[in-house]
Amino acid sequence: MKERTPLIAGNWKMHHGGQSGFALASELVAAVGGLDDVDVVIAPPFTVLAAIGTETENTRVELAAQNAHAKLEGAFTGEISCGMLVEAGCKWVILGHSERRQLFGDTNDGVREKVQAAMAAGLRPIVCIGETLAQREAGETMEVVLGQLDAVTDLISVKAGTAAVAYEPVWAIGTGRVAGPEQAQEVHAAIRGRLAEHKASLGAQTRILYGGSVKPENAAGLLECEDIDGALVGGASLKVDSFVKIVQIAREGAERSSAN
Ligand code: 13P
Repeated sequence: MKERTPLIAGNWKMHHGGQSGFALASELVAAVGGLDDVDVVIAPPFTVLAAIGTETENTRVELAAQNAHAKLEGAFTGEISCGMLVEAGCKWVILGHSERRQLFGDTNDGVREKVQAAMAAGLRPIVCIGETLAQREAGETMEVVLGQLDAVTDLISVKAGTAAVAYEPVWAIGTGRVAGPEQAQEVHAAIRGRLAEHKASLGAQTRILYGGSVKPENAAGLLECEDIDGALVGGASLKVDSFVKIVQIAREGAERSSAN
């Protein structure tokens, strides 16, 4: 039986930044209202966070941002602090997404600073880690993934279970090329092992999500794996039907697991 509550998070990336985002959030709130036993998080663009925050308040849908700045405030044109995200209604923040690492220069040290700021502000980080195709082919997957994890392990161990880790192989993001359940489970087990080496409760309580082309068609196989506690969903989170289906699949899995 899995003891961790499944977590399904939708990363909207740069989509639905206005009225369509508000509408999608409202539909989701209505659709997942009765689906207990699964935690549901959505990460819309900054521009609609506060508006959606009023819609998701006191509902089963929790709000995440897709990034944050590490400083509290200051002359950082174009940036948003963790405190501001809390004010907008966020409970979570996605940090270290591979798109930020690849396109916007986020480094392990930078992600570490952001995780520290998020935890200090009371936000729960979803820390993304994952290897590129070249790194996988060079046999460097574990080294890369565990190195990215090691950069934040001591920070997230202070309140074990508060942060989530998302394993997102870069080659599976937006490509339709999903890691097979065995392939994903192998890395998830290594991640959990590393967390447990640091502190047993950190290994036991941290939810490790898989991300990369998760769809209703492949979610069940992934979510059944022992060390996969949920999904960070990109494309399939942009439509209410596909996202809710993934939430339902996670719930059915949790029910089966508690019956065993
Ligand atoms: P896709 O589900 O579109 O592959 O995106 C995954 C992702 O990057 C989620 O953060």
